Amino acid sequence: MTGFDFKKDPFENFLTLYKEAQIKGIPDAHAMSLATVNKDHKPSVRIVYFKGMIRGGFSFFTNYNGRKGHDIEANSNVSVNFFWPHLDRQVRIDGVVQKTTREESEAYFATRPRLSQLGAWTSDQSEVLESFSSFQAKFTAIEEKFKDQKVPCPPHWGGYRIEASEIEFWFGKNGRLHERYIYQKQPTSWKTFLRFP
Ligand SMILES: Cc1cc2nc3c(=O)[nH]c(=O)nc-3n(C[C@H](O)[C@H](O)[C@H](O)COP(=O)(O)O)c2cc1C
Repeated sequence: MTGFDFKKDPFENFLTLYKEAQIKGIPDAHAMSLATVNKDHKPSVRIVYFKGMIRGGFSFFTNYNGRKGHDIEANSNVSVNFFWPHLDRQVRIDGVVQKTTREESEAYFATRPRLSQLGAWTSDQSEVLESFSSFQAKFTAIEEKFKDQKVPCPPHWGGYRIEASEIEFWFGKNGRLHERYIYQKQPTSWKTFLRFP
């Protein structure tokens, strides 16, 4: 058995495990694979950074016009997965995403380094890029445009929050006798059960 003190509230469990991953120095403990599905039912996956809980939802920030943004527009079901090597743990969260409010997006954007803020204006995320030099030239023009000014949050940039419907805590064990603890959302509570590894 894991010895982990599971609580009824899966968010509490997640935050405890996440904190432990950070304390133990797992690199990029806040990196999660985000899977989306497009309008033609084709999946795609990429890493994004978890940016904390917003109104009870797992948040991340991105360009709304990129591939994942278009996928989400067509299908709001997503799945994210954290993998914390060395601790041999993963946590998978399935759910539905919603955009964060404009105020939430702007508040987070304001905390980003200036370079990243300028980058958000420069990048037409997921679009075909002619050349790196054109990208660099665009960056320079944007830098000039916002010279001596605060960089505002682009209208096409912001956050999403995932409303979890299922959360799985996976603990790796010797002999592949892994332990899987599932929390499934019910109208007013969470149903908990195990799965074979
Ligand atoms: C460690 C790591 C963290 C990343 N974090 C983010 C992020 O928080 N938001 C984001 O939009 N892209 C992030 N990216 C880039 C994405 O993986 C991806 O390339 C980009 O969002 C475009 O994805 P899309 O074309 O599927 O929309 C990160 C990549 C890595 C490797």
